[in-house]
Formats: sequence, C-alpha cells, structure tokens
Amino acid sequence: MYIMQNLWHVIILLYSSISVHSLNILGVFPYQGKSHFFVFEPYLQELARRNHNVTVISYFPQEKPIANYHDISLAGKTKILESVFPVDRSYWILMKIFSFLFEKGRDNCEVLLENENVQNLWQSETKFDVVVTEQFNSDCSLGLAYKLGAPVVGMTSHVLMPWHYERLGIHYNPSYMSFQFCEGGTKPTFYQRLERVVLHNLCTILYKYTCQRVNENQIQKYFDIPSLQDLAKDVKAVLMYTNFPVNGPGLYPPNVIEVGGYHVAKTKELPKDLKKFIEESEHGVIFISFGSMLKAATTPEDKVAAIVAAISELPQRVVWKWDGKVLPGNPKNVYLSNWLPQNDILAHPKLVAFYSHCGMLSTTEAIYHGVPMIGMPVFGDQPGNAAAMEESGLGVQIQIRDLTKETLLQKLKTILDPEFRRKVKELSAVWHDRPSSAMDTAIYWTEFVGRTKNYTFRSPAATVPFYQYLYLDIITLLGGPKKLKAQNADEDTGVSTMSTYSSSKFALVIAGLSTGIDFHGANSP
Ligand SMILES: *[C@@H]1O[C@H](CO)[C@@H](O)[C@H](O)[C@H]1NC(C)=O
Ligand SMILES: *[C@@H]1O[C@H](CO)[C@@H](O)[C@H](O)[C@H]1NC(C)=O
Repeated sequence: MYIMQNLWHVIILLYSSISVHSLNILGVFPYQGKSHFFVFEPYLQELARRNHNVTVISYFPQEKPIANYHDISLAGKTKILESVFPVDRSYWILMKIFSFLFEKGRDNCEVLLENENVQNLWQSETKFDVVVTEQFNSDCSLGLAYKLGAPVVGMTSHVLMPWHYERLGIHYNPSYMSFQFCEGGTKPTFYQRLERVVLHNLCTILYKYTCQRVNENQIQKYFDIPSLQDLAKDVKAVLMYTNFPVNGPGLYPPNVIEVGGYHVAKTKELPKDLKKFIEESEHGVIFISFGSMLKAATTPEDKVAAIVAAISELPQRVVWKWDGKVLPGNPKNVYLSNWLPQNDILAHPKLVAFYSHCGMLSTTEAIYHGVPMIGMPVFGDQPGNAAAMEESGLGVQIQIRDLTKETLLQKLKTILDPEFRRKVKELSAVWHDRPSSAMDTAIYWTEFVGRTKNYTFRSPAATVPFYQYLYLDIITLLGGPKKLKAQNADEDTGVSTMSTYSSSKFALVIAGLSTGIDFHGANSP
C-alpha cells in the first residue's frame, strides 16, 4: 500500500514536470510604490511555486528566500514612496502629480540601467521566455526586454493609464469612459467630457515628450532600440488589475485581460482584543480606513469632527485606522489604531460597512468579502474607482468637500440598509464567478505568451494609420466636391452647406483628439 502510494506520487511528479514546461521569467518592476508591488508580488511568488524560474528586478527583495525566485534588488537606490498628498484636488495638483510620475519614470530608468546585475543580464545574453513588467509611468523596461529578445507581458495594479489606450488600439471615448484622476463615471456631464478630452490628451502628450522620449535617449546610451512606442505596441498581453462587475464592462481587445482580485490573501485570525471588540458588537462593525492617503496631520479638523459626530450617533461599533492618538470627543464605540489587518477585518461576518479612500486594492477587498462601501476618493485613480464602484452598486461615494455630519449619516443610512447589503452580497458572488480564478488567469496568459512567443494578438487598431482610423481621406474626398459646389452655389445654400461641412470637420477633430492619437507623425507608418 505504502509503496503504491509513493509510486503514485512519483508518477504524478514525473508527469507534471514533463507536461508543464518551466519557463525562464524575468520580472521588471522598477517603480518603488509599495502598493503597486503588493499586487505583483503574490503573482511572482505563485509563478515560482509553479516551477517557473523567476528573476525579479524590484525595490522589494524577498525577506526569506523562496525556491525558484531570484532577486535583483534596486533597494536603497531611491526612497520608497510614502507621499502625503493634499486633500483638495485641483488641476494644479493634477499637473504636479503627472510631473511627479514622469520624473520618477525618468529616474527609475536610470537606476534600472545603471544596475550592474541588470547590465549583466544583457551582457551575458541571458535567455528569457517571458519578461513581465509593470505598465505605469515608464516604458524603460520595454527597451531591456527588447535587448533580451523576450516577449513582454504588461501588468497594472489599477485601470489603464491614459497613455496606454493608443498602444493597445483602444479608442478612448470620453462619452462613457472615465478619466481616472477626475470625478464622473459612464454618464458624464458636458463639463466632465470636456475635462476628459483636454486632460486625457494633455497628459498623453506630456508622457510622450517628458518621459517616453527621454527614456529612449537614456537607453540609447547603452544599446540601440526602436522607438518605445513601437515596442509598447509589441507588448503581447496586458494583465489589468480590474474585474468588470465593479470596474464596469469595457471594450478591450483580447490581449487586455482582467485579473483583478488575486492579491487578496487567505484570511488570518484577528488579534485577540480586536476580535473581541468586533464579535461583541450587537449591531455590526463599520471599518474606516483611508490607507496612507489621509493623515491626521493633513486632514482638515472640521472633516475629522464631521466623521466623529456622525459615527457617535450610530449603534454600530467602529474600527478606525488612523495615525492620530485621539479623536475629538473620544467616542466610546471606536477602536482606534494606526495599523490594522484590513483584509482580515473585512472578512469578518460582523462587518457591515467600509468607509474608504477607494484605492483599487481596498475596493477589491471590499467586493471580495461583499462589504458595502462608502468611497471618499482623495487622489490618483481613486475618483475613477469611486465612480465605478458606485455605479456597480457596491456602495456610494462622497466627495471630501461635501463631507458633513448630515451627508455622511445619509450615506451610511443608504448602505446600512439590509436590502443594499443583500445586493452587495449578490454582486460579490457575480464578481467571484469566473471561468478560472484571477491568479490562474494571470498565470495562464503569462504561460500562453511564453509558449507562443512568435504569436501576436493585439488589435489591428493599434497600428492602423490615424488618417485611415478617422477616415480623414474619405471625408476629404466626399467633403471636397461639396465644398467646391457650395462655393459656386447662391449665397443662401452656400452658407448652409459650408457650415455643415465645417461642423463635420469639427466633430472629426474632436473625435481625433479624444482618441489621444499622436498628430505629430510618430504614429504614421
Ligand atoms: C534561473 O534564473 C537564475 C537567475 O537569473 C539563473 O542564474 C539560472 O541559471 C536559471 N536557471 C535555469 C534552470 O534556467
Ligand atoms: C519563433 O520564430 C523563430 C524565428 O523565426 C524560430 O526560430 C522559433 O522556433 C519560433 N518559435 C516558436 C515557439 O515557434
């Protein structure tokens, strides 16, 4: 019996080592945002656990060595980001955020290319089957992948950045697609659409000229590459950290794959006193956490006072992650701490509401555990996440400027309704219901790219010349004679034909602008 069992194990082992061809995978994650790597890390570890040989360039080397996982550490080269951003959103602050991102995109490229161990990879012509890399504020890593001759899988820890649409051949249409840095969802106001057109194009152009082009020059100092935008179009697949039941059904080509949810870890036991506090609540628990986004020192006092006043009137208990020592008025129903195991708290059946800044990871954990949310976006992609979250029915949003005791109580009343909660549980079930788990999906497509190196399945929209994409040549042909005729016709009809002609041209220009297509020639064949 014992021998039979062992034999069986040997057979299984042999079978799996034959059938699953292990890949040599290089992960390139040269951005030092902890919340980003927090998403990539479990995926990279899982690749190693599934017998792939994984080498990871990042700021976050493993503390304990893992089999098949090799670190090339960039740690210590740059400060880990723990920025505090102002609570108010303005166009000025948005521009500062873009300029910060592109500055980091340039700095990180330098740090990556200067690293001896990284240089070793291309000097020793190490062969990789796949390069997995973050698609965020720089395309520097695509130059490295090109030099190594490996196909690329892109990854995000959020929705696509504005400058990613064009390379993937996705038409950015402001009439129903949010611009993640601003408020508004799939039914924008006229002003929001105008805002989207202007900002989408502005930051795409800024990205191209203040980051991508600079990165090209930085790489050229070491080796020759085609343009980074061309390499970006060659990225085989992008694993996007979203899932449509919450983020909304988008129009994506087959190489943009939704894998949102795999970072959520197995639930662990709560610390004793916290567990007692939660379990002894009669009416359930509300969890408040604004991540590292709102600090006691930078949050306006009247806003903190409004939250305290609102929760003091509730029968529920409140667990609040806050870096301040005390709250005004010392409310009795609050458990205050500056560090809390968020995922384990959200998993507790006593949880009835989650008041959050609506970061992608927090939103993901809320839907995972089916906890109704109040989203109060502060910065980055949070306004877009909050709008999508509200439209999905996972919760409601509140803007900081509108936050008062009354408005907050009203929002809490909405999501504490048992019927609201029932619908959130239903939505959570839909969110979990997939042909394969988020992790399996992410690994599957990575292995797919490794197996089918020479196969490209991007949308042809990514490479079609812009004048054809917008049928400018056809419009010119059809509109041209009309214009001539109009000039010869009598004044009345002439004027009206002319104005129809110029308004259709105007519409086209706007359509062109909204796709973020580069009119400077880099996009033409
Ligand atoms: C795995 O990766 C490491 C580090 O990049 C490399 O030294 C080693 O040769 C690789 N092993 C195999 C079996 O390819
Ligand atoms: C990919 O193309 C190269 C060059 O044409 C060829 O040598 C290689 O065998 C192909 N790889 C696969 C997996 O088909």
